[in-house]
Amino acid sequence: MFQNQVAIITGAARGIGAATAKLFAQQGAQVVINDLDGTVLATTRAEIEAAGGTVLAIPGSVTEAAFPNQLMKAAVDAFGKINILVNNAGYTWDGMVHKMSDEQWQAILDIHVTAPFRMIRALAPYMREPAKAEIEQYGAPQEPRVIINISSTSGLHGNIGQANYATGKLGIVGLTKTIAKEWGPLGIRCNAVAFGFIDTRLTRSKENRESIQVGERAIALGIPNEVRAVASVRSPLERPGTPEEAAGGIVLLASPWASYITGHTLEVTGGAGI
Ligand SMILES: NC(=O)c1ccc[n+]([C@@H]2O[C@H](COP(=O)([O-])OP(=O)(O)OC[C@H]3O[C@@H](n4cnc5c(N)ncnc54)[C@H](O)[C@@H]3O)[C@@H](O)[C@H]2O)c1
Repeated sequence: MFQNQVAIITGAARGIGAATAKLFAQQGAQVVINDLDGTVLATTRAEIEAAGGTVLAIPGSVTEAAFPNQLMKAAVDAFGKINILVNNAGYTWDGMVHKMSDEQWQAILDIHVTAPFRMIRALAPYMREPAKAEIEQYGAPQEPRVIINISSTSGLHGNIGQANYATGKLGIVGLTKTIAKEWGPLGIRCNAVAFGFIDTRLTRSKENRESIQVGERAIALGIPNEVRAVASVRSPLERPGTPEEAAGGIVLLASPWASYITGHTLEVTGGAGI
C-alpha cells in the first residue's frame, strides 16, 4: 500500500512507534526510525530488515533543537523524499499539579508539543516546497503527503496527575488542526491519533520499575495496578489495546482511504469514553 513512500517515525525503538514502523515497512514503505534509545532502536531496525523491510535508523533526541533538521536531511539523503511523518516519541513525568516542578512541566511540553512543532517546521522544505512546486508545474500534487501527531485521551479529557502531559496532548491537537489548515491547500493532510490505554512500557505496572533516562535524570514510568485495572474496564472491550492495534490507527490515517480526512483526531481507545 505504501510502495515508493518514505515514512519517518519518531520514538520507534519500542511500543507504538516500533509497531507502526513495522506495519509501514510491511506495507511497502521505506521507513526512517528514530529513538533516544539507540540500542533498542538497533534491534528494531534489525527486525524490520529481517522481515524484508527497508529501514534507516537515526538515534537521537527529538527535543534537541538541531535534531529535527538533521533527521529530515538524513531521510532525504537516504531515500530522496518524505511522504509521512509520525510524531510519536514521548514519555510521561506524572505528579499532582501542586507538587509539579517547572522542570517537570517544561520537559513534557518540550517532548509533546515543541518537538513536533520543530519537526514539522524542519519538514517544510522537504514536504511543503515539493508540493508547491508540483502544483505550479502540474496543477496538482504528485505524491501523497501526511503528518500524524500522537495525542491522548489524557489531553482530550484531562487526567489526574498529568497536568503537564494533558496540556501537551491537547496542545498537539491545536497544532494538528493549524497545520491541516496551513498546508491543506498544498494537498498535505495532518491528523492526530489519541490513544486510550495501550499496553506499552508507558502503561505497564509501576511495580516493574521501568524508567526513561532523560539527560541526567531517570524518570520513573508505569502506572499503579489499581489504575490499570480501572483503565481496562473503561473500554467496552474490557482490555488494553496492543501496540499493533495502535499502529493500525496511525497507518489507517496515512492510507489512501483517508485521503479526505484532515485536521481530525481519531480516538483509538477500544471505545473508552463513549
Ligand atoms: N501507551 C499508551 O497507553 C498511550 C496512550 C496515549 C498516548 N500515548 C502516546 O503514544 C506515544 C508512544 O508511546 P508508547 O506508549 O509507545 O511508549 P514507549 O515508552 O513504549 O515508547 C516511546 C518511545 O519514545 C522514545 N522517546 C522518548 N523521548 C524521546 C526523545 N526525546 N527523542 C526520541 N525518542 C524518545 C522512548 O525511548 C521510547 O522508545 C507517546 O507519544 C505517548 O505519549 C501512549
